[in-house]
Amino acid sequence: MAKLMVLVGVFALSFCVAMAADQSALQDFCVAESNSQVLLNGLACKKASSVEASDFSFSGLHIAGNTSNAVGSRVTLVSATQIPGLNTLGISLARIDYAPWGINPPHAHPRATEILTVIEGSLEVGFVTSNPDNRLISKILNKGDVFVFPIGLIHYQKNVGNGNAMAIAGLSSQNPGVITIANAVFGSKPDISTDILVRAFQVDKNIISEMQSKF
Ligand SMILES: *[C@@H]1O[C@H](CO)[C@@H](O)[C@H](O)[C@H]1NC(C)=O
Repeated sequence: MAKLMVLVGVFALSFCVAMAADQSALQDFCVAESNSQVLLNGLACKKASSVEASDFSFSGLHIAGNTSNAVGSRVTLVSATQIPGLNTLGISLARIDYAPWGINPPHAHPRATEILTVIEGSLEVGFVTSNPDNRLISKILNKGDVFVFPIGLIHYQKNVGNGNAMAIAGLSSQNPGVITIANAVFGSKPDISTDILVRAFQVDKNIISEMQSKF
């Protein structure tokens, strides 16, 4: 019996590691109850009878994000945090604004594949495959073009025009998560030891210190 439990445990664990995507819903909806103290994978459900249309709605995605920052882009995310009704449904949405030549820097979503469509302007987009190939798959997108960034892979976008650009992206998680590479590696709190980054990036200590000072 104990042996069986261990086997079941190992199987469940390997399944979790292999599948980082959201679980499928077991009911029509599970609108997030913002006051709940219950901790679970996702958010606790509100009583179905008190669910309203506003739980499934968000307004304001027509408003451009403020791109006055170091990278020249802004992501406005509409996830289960903004729409309680998205809880357990495995999907979310983002509007991305780009200043002329602005970038959405290399980042990864640990829990979501992303499908992006260009609404205005032109973007250079790309993602890098995992080791050992680390192949860059990139393309220039124009208005109306669509591109997919597979779950977990490092990807980026750059506005390659003199005007503003805007894209809308769908993501296959209610809470996709973002790991911005530069911030995570050079701006962790506390810092990753300089000697580790010196060896990992094969550059001088001063370069690592400079990178760390920027994040
Ligand atoms: C945009 O962000 C910049 C930098 O934080 C700020 O100075 C500026 O007032 C913001 N613009 C608007 C319209 O909110």
